[in-house]
Amino acid sequence: MADSDAAGIPRGFGKTEREDAWWIENLPFIIVLGAFAIYTTWRAFEGKFYWTDPYLSPFYSPLIDPEHHWWPFSPAILILGGPLGFRLTCYYYRKAYYRAFLLDPPSCAVGEGRKHYHGETSFPFILQNVHRYFFYIAVIFVAFLWYDAIRAFFFPQGFGVGVGTLVMLLNIVLLSIYTFSCHSLRHLAGGKLDCFSCSTFGPVRHTAWRGITRLNENHMFWAWASMISVGLTDLYIRLVACGAIKDIRLL
Ligand code: FES
Repeated sequence: MADSDAAGIPRGFGKTEREDAWWIENLPFIIVLGAFAIYTTWRAFEGKFYWTDPYLSPFYSPLIDPEHHWWPFSPAILILGGPLGFRLTCYYYRKAYYRAFLLDPPSCAVGEGRKHYHGETSFPFILQNVHRYFFYIAVIFVAFLWYDAIRAFFFPQGFGVGVGTLVMLLNIVLLSIYTFSCHSLRHLAGGKLDCFSCSTFGPVRHTAWRGITRLNENHMFWAWASMISVGLTDLYIRLVACGAIKDIRLL
């Protein structure tokens, strides 16, 4: 038997006793996360085709200084840190990109490159603990995106519904579920309590904790669905704004 650590995992990068194609499970992460990162970076720096009345791209919301009075670059750069920081420090994404991009470890029961494991207790990974604060920032962005989705019903000619309206509505619903299924919120609601009935607002917190727990069970799904939807929503608005496609009015 190969040299193993206390958990029985063979030492040495990529060493394992697993006989399945364990590396295949990393491919979707590499392809989809990689494509999303490239597309987002390009769109953030592009600085145009983000608005076509009444639709505003989620990558540019809230829209700050679009006329470039004091900010000469793309307005998206001013706000992207919030949602990006929230996703980058998300517990689920951490697992995904540690495996897919840092190969640390490459997969379950597969040997990693370094000899000592410190978890996230030392620099730079200790910074991941800011996730709970990014949650508060993410809630502010969710409020802005709800405003944008409601605003998408009001065309220059009056109230209406276009394909873009429905796209924006679906996007903010998915983003809201992803945000409110966060592990940090679940912990805030009740994760640190031993006894709900003995604590202040116990019944309310218990109800909230149970609801968040139900959403949290599928947090991975909401992470993927909301990431894909936010990218596609931006793409749709960009294509309409640059005249490549026409938005269809349903009402
Ligand atoms: S753990 Fe994923 S958003 Fe908080």
